[in-house]
Amino acid sequence: MKNWKVKFSNSIVEFVLDGKFANIAKMVDKANAIYITDENVYALHQQIFKGKPTIVIPAGEIHKQQATVDFIIEALLNFGANRQSVLIGVGGGVVTDMVGYVAGVFMRGVQFGFVPTTLLAMVDAAIGGKNGIDVGVYKNMVGLIRQPAFIVYDHSFLTTLPSYQWENGFAEIIKHAAIKDLNMLKELNQNDLAFYQKNKKKGLAVSIQKNV
Ligand SMILES: NC(=O)c1ccc[n+]([C@@H]2O[C@H](COP(=O)([O-])OP(=O)(O)OC[C@H]3O[C@@H](n4cnc5c(N)ncnc54)[C@H](O)[C@@H]3O)[C@@H](O)[C@H]2O)c1
Repeated sequence: MKNWKVKFSNSIVEFVLDGKFANIAKMVDKANAIYITDENVYALHQQIFKGKPTIVIPAGEIHKQQATVDFIIEALLNFGANRQSVLIGVGGGVVTDMVGYVAGVFMRGVQFGFVPTTLLAMVDAAIGGKNGIDVGVYKNMVGLIRQPAFIVYDHSFLTTLPSYQWENGFAEIIKHAAIKDLNMLKELNQNDLAFYQKNKKKGLAVSIQKNV
């Protein structure tokens, strides 16, 4: 899989396909990088955050709220974050939506990148620049459109993803194919979920390519 640089109206997003989390150190100056993840991803992949300034937020849609934004902003200030800081959201769609939003409002906007760790975030939530939070029961009520500088696809995160989260992501992939892409739908029809779980690169290549 090759990397892509995709041009949007006022920015360029680098899609690092088949990437490695560790290589972010080569992309972002260590002094500026601040990592934000949720408690589940942190618990399962703790070793990768060692020695990195990391903000750990509670997991789940119920926390995609202003209170968590305030928590992140306070933690950023405690880390001495400034306008040069680059926020790196490592997690599912809840993390990427919130990190994109915080990056848009913190100090009137700082750079950010994503490492999506659920299939849904890889093929959908991290792509397109829609960032936001819920307000009580009202979903995605507050937010902004702003593109990340990069999206790093490290499919080793998928080894810890529960089965129902694979199904969740694949429902989105099938929906996309059904709406827009007959060839993709035919290909999906030939293989089952277990095939793509074994052949992660192939599954991701098919789905990301079509969704960008
Ligand atoms: N911005 C957009 O365009 C867009 C598009 C689609 C969905 N979304 C948003 O995405 C969110 C849903 O995303 P989601 O399904 O990724 O939910 P999520 O972020 O809540 O992740 C689901 C669960 O999986 C856990 N998890 C994450 N990575 C894991 C891993 N590698 N191994 C084990 N567990 C892991 C999380 O801690 C969480 O408990 C919703 O808030 C939705 O509104 C946004």
